[in-house]
Amino acid sequence: MKYMGSKSRIIKHIAPIIQEYVDRSDKHFYYEPFCGGCNVIDHIQATRRFASDKQQYLIALYQNLDKLSKLPNFVTKEHYDSVRNCFNSGGQEYEDWYIGAIGFLASYNGRFFDGGYAGLVHTKSGIDRDYYAEAKRNLEAQAIHLDGIQFKCMDYREAGDTSGFVIYCDPPYHGTKQYGISKNFDHTAFWEWVRQKSKTNTVLVSEHNAPPDFKCIWEQELLRTIDNSKRVPIIERLFMIC
Ligand SMILES: C[S@@+](CC[C@H](N)C(=O)[O-])C[C@H]1O[C@@H](n2cnc3c(N)ncnc32)[C@H](O)[C@@H]1O
Repeated sequence: MKYMGSKSRIIKHIAPIIQEYVDRSDKHFYYEPFCGGCNVIDHIQATRRFASDKQQYLIALYQNLDKLSKLPNFVTKEHYDSVRNCFNSGGQEYEDWYIGAIGFLASYNGRFFDGGYAGLVHTKSGIDRDYYAEAKRNLEAQAIHLDGIQFKCMDYREAGDTSGFVIYCDPPYHGTKQYGISKNFDHTAFWEWVRQKSKTNTVLVSEHNAPPDFKCIWEQELLRTIDNSKRVPIIERLFMIC
């Protein structure tokens, strides 16, 4: 699913690394506490897969993937606004999974009611695109790879006792645009949580930088688009405790 901070651009590099740790583990249990668009977990095979995120509408959507056929084929701006108003006012007209679907699939760049309405667009190259229909089709195709995952809405710190798991963390990056549900993410507390979890699990973390007791096991330079005219180099890295 198109998602802010998606790892789809580097998935071909990091999925084989993560998969190898799962294959080498005894249990073959895999957990993602910041699953977002599920653009990593959908590439990982494991005996059991668990995913969580603090975004309640996102998790409700994953928990109701069997209802995707009930979604409209086209979302008008009026309907988008109606669902967004329901979300903003905490109304009851729409179920959470439906708010998640319209919010993520019909907002520009998958930015839940933040990127603005992404309806029909006549592109510079002269092509008409329906971004919502494309996003819906993508999620329908992705759903096959999400089958069997146990989804839960929670803060990563609420994750229960785990032991012998492979845990892949893709938290909000330090110094980047923040997610609506997690303003002021506490990065120090996060790394401490990783240290604790690493005592009984194999924990891998995506970030640009990490504290000195973590080692970088993979890195690659990419260009991040700031706006239409500006692209800056960034380095994607994968860390583990030393
Ligand atoms: C970088 S995105 C994950 C992207 C995902 N790996 C992908 O490729 O689509 C980070 C996610 O962390 C979630 N998040 C932020 N703070 C959180 C917290 N305290 N606990 C759990 N999830 C949180 C956000 O809702 C967001 O979905």
